[in-house]
Amino acid sequence: MYFLAIESSCDETAAAVFDDQPRVLASAVASQIDLHARFGGVVPEVAARAHLQRLLPVIDEALGQAGVKLQDIGAIAVMNTPGLVGALLVGVSAAKMLAVALDVPLLAVNHIEAHIYACRLAAGTDVFPAIGLVVSGGHTSLFHCRSALDFSLLGATIDDAAGEAFDKVASILGLGFPGGPVVERTARTGNPRAFAFPRSFLHEDRLDFSFSGLKTAVLYAHRDLLAEQGGSISEQTRADLAASFQQAVIDVLVGKCRQALEQTGLGTLCVGGGVAANQTFRQALEAMAKAHGGKLFVPPLSLCTDNAAMAALAVEKWRAGRTAPLDLDAQPTYSATA
Ligand code: KG4
Ligand code: ZN
Repeated sequence: MYFLAIESSCDETAAAVFDDQPRVLASAVASQIDLHARFGGVVPEVAARAHLQRLLPVIDEALGQAGVKLQDIGAIAVMNTPGLVGALLVGVSAAKMLAVALDVPLLAVNHIEAHIYACRLAAGTDVFPAIGLVVSGGHTSLFHCRSALDFSLLGATIDDAAGEAFDKVASILGLGFPGGPVVERTARTGNPRAFAFPRSFLHEDRLDFSFSGLKTAVLYAHRDLLAEQGGSISEQTRADLAASFQQAVIDVLVGKCRQALEQTGLGTLCVGGGVAANQTFRQALEAMAKAHGGKLFVPPLSLCTDNAAMAALAVEKWRAGRTAPLDLDAQPTYSATA
């Protein structure tokens, strides 16, 4: 049984083919970074138009890589929530059209839950029950994952997402877009203790996040340094700002994961989303998991940033008989899927 999956929630047009193990046979991703870079962020209308142009070639590429013909696809999976509504609509419309044309079931996958499922996919074995953390450009959310199909939200960001904070800080420091990888690179030569940036809620029991105050603290520190140093800062100071910012984000993310493990008594942690590509973050998670005596699952980099392979969560839904109706709609905001 072969599944074809489509992802178009933000600025990556992606398609994947997997079987019912699930085992990934192909994963094709067309990034739109080049289109959005000059705007310093994702422009929803530009993203939707680019998905329209790229989706069919990306589907062809995935089928070609997998060596599977369209007629041999037994189900279509699509990430229909959350995301940019115009972008999601492109993928949802294509998926419905394919399901009708091929006369196969349609499966709807929640993009956030799929980021956690990437851990299960990469592990090749069951990883649940677990604490799941999704850290992406749009979301920073902690879940109690009882099974692949039973997630409840423990806490989330009340303002900016962690990835969004990386993107905004990159822009403040004049480092370009997208911010995560370039802040990580800049931070490598910086001192993570040079600036004492805030770590919101770290010492409170609540499992929520806030990164807006941290971003503003970096903005003010940078502005003050520019004023003191005659309009420009040294490479070292920029690296120190990046490293201190990154460390503050990591301390909070790792601290909240530890609290969630302690509060629930669970012994497994699954982390997904673009920010989980950050090496310093991965090392800090490993150190915490070792000290806590828990199991840690973080997918390889290609399954952290947006992709369609993580929609293999659809296999679990298919097994449970949870197919989607053909009037499936794009749903821009997160809500737990039925
Ligand atoms: O999961 P993702 O690809 O897309 C969303 O669903 O949002 O995450 C993208 C986010 C961006 O904000 C990007 O700056 C961040 O992940 N990111 C990183 C790194 N690579 C990507 N943040 C920190 N360090 C990285 N290496
Ligand atoms: Zn994502």
